[in-house]
Amino acid sequence: MRAVLCETLGDPSLLKIVDLPVPEPQPGEVLIRVRAAALNFPDVLMVAGSYQHKPALPFIPGVEAAGEITALGPGAAGWSVGDRVIFGKRPGCFAEYATVSVEALFPAPQQWSFAEAAAYRVAATTAYNALVHRAALKPREVLLVHGATGGVGMAAVQLGKHLGARVIATGGDDGKLSVVRDQGADFVINYRATDFVPLVKDLTDGRGADVVYDPVGGETFARSLRCAAFGGRLLIIGFTSGDPSILKSNHILIKCLSVIGVRAGEYARHHRPLAEDYARELPRLAALGVMRPHISHRFALEQVAEAMRTLQARQVVGKAVLEL
Ligand SMILES: NC(=O)c1ccc[n+]([C@@H]2O[C@H](COP(=O)([O-])OP(=O)(O)OC[C@H]3O[C@@H](n4cnc5c(N)ncnc54)[C@H](OP(=O)(O)O)[C@@H]3O)[C@@H](O)[C@H]2O)c1
Repeated sequence: MRAVLCETLGDPSLLKIVDLPVPEPQPGEVLIRVRAAALNFPDVLMVAGSYQHKPALPFIPGVEAAGEITALGPGAAGWSVGDRVIFGKRPGCFAEYATVSVEALFPAPQQWSFAEAAAYRVAATTAYNALVHRAALKPREVLLVHGATGGVGMAAVQLGKHLGARVIATGGDDGKLSVVRDQGADFVINYRATDFVPLVKDLTDGRGADVVYDPVGGETFARSLRCAAFGGRLLIIGFTSGDPSILKSNHILIKCLSVIGVRAGEYARHHRPLAEDYARELPRLAALGVMRPHISHRFALEQVAEAMRTLQARQVVGKAVLEL
């Protein structure tokens, strides 16, 4: 099978396309013919060796994909050959075949392309964990989503609308933000052209946002304290700006704010009932069409370095995928 292999940590141009034997499914696993695998910001970090999870070299990158089951290992109950599935593997998805535990499978909605299915899991799990479990977002609350032009941000816009919130979304480009508006945002802010802090206050009659969802970090997070509502919840999702924030605790005290760290995957590994809730709720939401990914770029497996550079250059709107 063709696979992307990371033998040396560093720039994506160091990645190789190699021919490897098709793996055998072990007990409780299925073998999947991968049809599409989605790119994620952490893929670039993992290949560079700067992500918190550091797989042993050599490794096949990619953490989420979709395809068809081609074989069942012993005891792999509940699935059949030919089933279209969404799966996660950390890492190992940028290859024509992957073996996966049945616990890491969701059914792929029939009406979705493999590209859409491949791009669902990480963004949807993150938005769901953050908004439902960590912030308990309620109907009619104001949700401010930063990084809304990216994968996890756009999923939060879609889920926020589904949960009945009023959604304000920020991003750095008017063209990309028009897609975010199409995905349901009530109001979009180009942070390069407009200071989001006074605008969020204006849009909420001075009250501020009840929940802030922030994959950007740095100054974006620090300044969000200024436009959070009294009793607001601020969700730390990631640091695409390159830096975590140094916070002044006075705003947190004065406005009784809650600052909440989110690690959607890790939290479920520590808290079994959450993994069971993901397994039940994420396929249900997909079947309803909630958090259907927007795919702006499609690449062949051989173009993996170009795909990663496109993500790094912030040209992707929503998600980019490799098609196999
Ligand atoms: N906590 C969790 O469980 C979890 C799970 C998955 C991912 N994450 C993290 O979430 C983050 C986003 O991942 P993703 O896959 O959505 O990435 P992505 O698709 O590449 O999106 C990145 C977003 O960040 C924005 N951005 C980048 N640099 C910025 C800057 N300097 N200032 C303001 N905005 C900036 C981009 O907006 P513009 O280009 O429009 O400015 C874009 O919307 C990553 O840090 C990732 O590690 C966390």
